[in-house]
Amino acid sequence: MSSDLSTVATLVNDFTEEYRIKMETAVEKYFTDEYFDSLGGPLAMMQKQFASQAWREFYIGCLPPARQMTQIYEIGDPYFRDRDLIVGLGEQIRDEVKHAKIYASLSEQVGVPCDLAIWTDDNYDKLVTKCRLATEWEKPHHIAAGFQISTEIVAAETSRRMGEYVEGEYPEIAKTLFDVTADEGDHIHCGRLIVKRFAEVEDFDFMHEIAERKYKAALAILESL
Ligand SMILES: [Fe+2]
Ligand SMILES: [Fe+2]
Repeated sequence: MSSDLSTVATLVNDFTEEYRIKMETAVEKYFTDEYFDSLGGPLAMMQKQFASQAWREFYIGCLPPARQMTQIYEIGDPYFRDRDLIVGLGEQIRDEVKHAKIYASLSEQVGVPCDLAIWTDDNYDKLVTKCRLATEWEKPHHIAAGFQISTEIVAAETSRRMGEYVEGEYPEIAKTLFDVTADEGDHIHCGRLIVKRFAEVEDFDFMHEIAERKYKAALAILESL
C-alpha cells in the first residue's frame, strides 16, 4: 500500500511535469510577439483575446471544480479527511470567477462588450468542446488529469504571455495579468492533491488518455486564434 502511495506520488509529479513542458511549449509557439503584432498590436490583441479569455476562466475554470466538489462529496469524506480538497476547490472557483470578472471588465475597457451570459464567437464550438473535455468525467482525479495537472497550465501561460506583450504600453494591465498568473499555481496544487488521494496506479493510463484529448483540444483553440 505505501509503495503504491509513493508510486502514485511519482506518477503525479511526472504527469504534471510532462504537461507543464507541453503547455509552455504550445503557448510559446502560438502566443508569440509576431502573432500578437499580426493582430495589430497590444490594443487589438486585447480586443481579440480578453472576452474569450473571460469565457474560458468562467466556464472552463468553474465547471470542473464544481463537479469535483460534488464527486468528492459522493465518494470521499467531505466533512473530515477531504475538507482540504473541498476548501481548495472552493477557493479555485472564487479565483476563476475573479479572473473572469477581470478579463470581462478589461474587455469592456478596450471597447468589446463581454456579458458572459450571452457572449459567443466564431470559435464557440471549440470552446465548448474543450470545456466538456475538462468537465464530463466521472471521477475527481479524471477531471484533474485533463485539467488542473495538465492543461490548466495553459491558463497561467497565456495570461503571462499577454502581460509581457502589453507591459510597455499598458503596465497596469500587465500587472493585473501577472496577478492572474500567480493564482494558477494553487489550482494545480489542488489537482495534485486530488489525484494523490483518489487515483490508483492503474488509473494513470486512462488519465493520460484524458489529458491527451484535452491537450489536443487546447491546441486546436490556440491554432484557431
Ligand atoms: Fe484562472
Ligand atoms: Fe485556474
